[in-house]
Amino acid sequence: MSNPPAIQVRGLEKSYKDLHVLRGVDFEVARGSIFALLGSNGAGKTTVIRILATLLKADAGTARVNGFEVAAQPADVRESISLTGQFAAVDEILTGRENLVLVARLRHLKDPGPIADGLLKRFALTEAGGRRVATYSGGMRRRLDIAMSLIGNPPVVFLDEPTTGLDPEARLEVWQAVRKLAEGGTTVLLTTQYLDEAEQLAGRIAILHEGRIIVDGTLAELKALLPPAKVEYVEKQPSLEDVFLTLVKGRS
Ligand SMILES: Nc1ncnc2c1ncn2[C@@H]1O[C@H](COP(=O)(O)OP(=O)(O)O)[C@@H](O)[C@H]1O
Ligand SMILES: [Mg+2]
Repeated sequence: MSNPPAIQVRGLEKSYKDLHVLRGVDFEVARGSIFALLGSNGAGKTTVIRILATLLKADAGTARVNGFEVAAQPADVRESISLTGQFAAVDEILTGRENLVLVARLRHLKDPGPIADGLLKRFALTEAGGRRVATYSGGMRRRLDIAMSLIGNPPVVFLDEPTTGLDPEARLEVWQAVRKLAEGGTTVLLTTQYLDEAEQLAGRIAILHEGRIIVDGTLAELKALLPPAKVEYVEKQPSLEDVFLTLVKGRS
């Protein structure tokens, strides 16, 4: 194949003692796409991500990331990825810009300053860049966390529940940041418990349930699995999220 997938997972299995969490997980993620791994709490999403990021060994099956086998070529895989967890790993005492410069230095990159400024701009944090992270909102922190994970331009980015715990406005900000990532050619594998998040962001969605991928397809393909809704003559009510966002935006 001339354009192999960015991520290829076959027959992945993992148990923690008697708990058989992954029972044969298969999926592929095309280069430059956003793929959502959807599943309830405890479904095994983080376990999949940790295996792909070489932090955890699978009991069976194979996984390739950026063409490299996670079990056999962990160093190559690590150079190809970044991982952003649910809990932002930023230093509160430092400013946003200082956090970025620090990571760029740790990665031995030339010109850490311009790299930091470029990322601040890309994630709409230029004005906040000189402020301590302790003063940031949840959405700003998460954006900074994603920005930090992009230093060195990894081709594959894992976002483990990037918006869990964020308010609706902050979620929208993070969604915009994720979309920009994919527009720039980065492959994004994100996990989420939120159906609307998968719907909003992902080109393909897979549902992890009881250790296996039970469906995998585009949103249109997933919707086609259900019979069309009966036409009902009711007024369309705005969702609570619509109401919240309209009211909050009107005040800012
Ligand atoms: N290190 C561990 N030891 C024992 N059980 C674990 C460990 N990590 C995760 N689990 C269990 O495995 C299941 C899947 O966890 P996880 O992959 O974190 O799910 P998710 O990210 O989808 O919420 C859960 O039941 C969790 O309690
Ligand atoms: Mg998890």
